[in-house]
Amino acid sequence: MKLFENLYKSIGIDLGTTNFLVYLKGRGIVVDEPTLVAINNRTNQILAIGEEAKKMLDRTPAHVTLIKPLVNGVISDFEMTQEIIRHFLNKLGESNFLSRFRTAAVSIPTNLTEVERKSVEDAVISAGASKVILVEEPIAAAIGARLSIEEPSANMIVNIGGGTSEISIISIGGAVISKSLKVAGQRLNEDIIRFIKNEYKLLIGEPTAETLKISVGSALPVEEKLELNVRGRDVASGLPKEVIVRNPQVRAAMQRSLKSIADSIKGILEDAPPELVGDVLEKGIYLSGGGSLLREMDEYLAKEVQVEVKIVEDPLTCVVRGLGIIIEDLPRHETILSNQERPKLVNL
Ligand SMILES: Nc1ncnc2c1ncn2[C@@H]1O[C@H](COP(=O)(O)OP(=O)(O)OP(=O)(O)O)[C@@H](O)[C@H]1O
Ligand SMILES: [Mg+2]
Repeated sequence: MKLFENLYKSIGIDLGTTNFLVYLKGRGIVVDEPTLVAINNRTNQILAIGEEAKKMLDRTPAHVTLIKPLVNGVISDFEMTQEIIRHFLNKLGESNFLSRFRTAAVSIPTNLTEVERKSVEDAVISAGASKVILVEEPIAAAIGARLSIEEPSANMIVNIGGGTSEISIISIGGAVISKSLKVAGQRLNEDIIRFIKNEYKLLIGEPTAETLKISVGSALPVEEKLELNVRGRDVASGLPKEVIVRNPQVRAAMQRSLKSIADSIKGILEDAPPELVGDVLEKGIYLSGGGSLLREMDEYLAKEVQVEVKIVEDPLTCVVRGLGIIIEDLPRHETILSNQERPKLVNL
């Protein structure tokens, strides 16, 4: 039996809008790369996938197009999504005929339609898995954060990723109330691009906006003097221009989006049954996903929502570690997984 266990490996896949992670049973996290494909648009040939493709991001020659096959957590380019999964499974050397017996636990946003869920399933199966278990992202994040979600006491988890912010209250292994918001890390980058264009008449690309967000941005005022020389193209002349962008500007650029995340958390707390809210007030709100790493994000949300906010350990890998815990012991998590099928009390 041991032999079969080794051959028929299970995997966990966090198919994120920004980052693609794989957990291999018995091994841990084996892939952690950007969800990106670079193609030659003259020949339609794939040039690079993941980290290799990201390296092309800044200096893309005219004939190279970078594709983000997921938009707000939903597959928008089926073929390229499949290519990414296949590429990384091949690299693991696990994509032979035996691997078809493998179970894949895959995280998905909470509000997917049947068709969207099916397309995730199909993409993973056609890339080499035989059975797919879909796990809602907040559930995977809660398990990854080692919250005791099987107990009849509620936990609130907010996963701020690249494409979506998932807000959920979980109890007895299932999401009782949840909301998926299309405001997350990528939206913050877009906010920064728009702000720099309006305020400085300067055009910048997404990589620059991302650098500004991470190295200069914060959700609340900070004492440190954070600033960055930013290069872009002048809107009017089309010529290169350099400006200094400081923390208050980046903060102002992101303010509306941050407020909408805080307001949605408040909305969920207002709509949730009072006894669940009591549990959340007692334990605080858990924050996961890359967006939780924005400076002062936890303090900002705590101030807005008036509830303590805690960032989980290693928020970028929390979801895939949760999927890992599930596949390491599938029978133990069967109840949790079947709980996801049950009708929800409220699904905003
Ligand atoms: N230090 C940081 N400060 C602010 N944002 C950060 C930081 N580090 C990462 N991020 C942001 O986190 C986002 C990626 O997070 P994550 O990997 O959790 O998303 P994802 O799982 O790919 O997306 P989704 O779950 O929405 O499909 C990116 O938008 C990135 O800019
Ligand atoms: Mg995610």
